[in-house]
Amino acid sequence: QSCILIGAPIDSGQRRAGCLMGPAAYRVAGLGATLTALGHRVEDRGDVALPALRPAECGNPAVHALPETVGWTEALSATVQAALSDGGFPVVMGGDHSLALGSVAGAAAHAHAAGRPLFLLWLDAHSDFHTPQTTTSGNLHGTPVAYIAGRAGFDAFPPFPAPLPPRNICLFGIRSVDPAEHEALLEHEIEINDMRVLDEFGIVVPLRAFLDRVEQAGGMLHVSLDVDFLDPSIAPAVGTTVPGGATFREAHLVMELLHESGLVTSLDLVELNPFLDERGRTAKMMVDLVGSLMGRKVFDRPTRSF
Ligand code: ARG
Ligand code: MN
Ligand code: MN
Ligand code: MN
Repeated sequence: QSCILIGAPIDSGQRRAGCLMGPAAYRVAGLGATLTALGHRVEDRGDVALPALRPAECGNPAVHALPETVGWTEALSATVQAALSDGGFPVVMGGDHSLALGSVAGAAAHAHAAGRPLFLLWLDAHSDFHTPQTTTSGNLHGTPVAYIAGRAGFDAFPPFPAPLPPRNICLFGIRSVDPAEHEALLEHEIEINDMRVLDEFGIVVPLRAFLDRVEQAGGMLHVSLDVDFLDPSIAPAVGTTVPGGATFREAHLVMELLHESGLVTSLDLVELNPFLDERGRTAKMMVDLVGSLMGRKVFDRPTRSF
């Protein structure tokens, strides 16, 4: 593959400083070299710049940094769409999860132009299904899934190009949902694999079921990996830790299944806060997961059946 690294030094989707150092941490942790070693071409397009800001209003005074978030959304959407049009596999190095407002918009614009449906795998402790009106924290990193699903309330943002049918969205690993998100999720046909589901069935069966649907539809697949999908014991460098996350082995297995599917067409790495890390271990964990997603394995052979 032709991997295109895109730095998204974004802190404005929440209030704890540090995520803007994420792209630098991924470079230091060897993301590019990891991909090169797996036989991929790698082009680092550097960090996206925040455009000049325009005033923006959404009617909820609690919302934090709306003009910045709109600016990042426009810039990242264009950058990701361009990378896909160039035939590349964009890897967006965040930055907090508000970057997915833009990255998935860019992927959706590309998929729409290519005449293919876009699917979304959201690996996260959170559902991120608030609108700018329902958020109580005011942190817009809690809103991208609602924007992507075409929910009302995003008038300050560019209209989402071809919103995803809720059935094309799969939330995976969630264990923290606010009341307003819960209520709205019940009204959408989003595929919800919360931790209750993953405890009972493991990660393989629900993930394969979703991937089968992507394949049958001839879809493109955007994967958005939030550090807090992982258990805090293996990934401490995130501002919104929630106990009971994916284990080391579960997370790598998810990535290996995604690789074997051959369906993933773009990727976000979000919410890494290097200021909270322990000797780079979370950054290295994320880079290793990308390694598994992009083809690292112990033995290269067909999956065994027993
Ligand atoms: N639901 C909470 C909020 O809206 C937490 C969101 C966390 N999102 C994230 N991308 N880490 O504030
Ligand atoms: Mn998130
Ligand atoms: Mn999260
Ligand atoms: Mn909230």
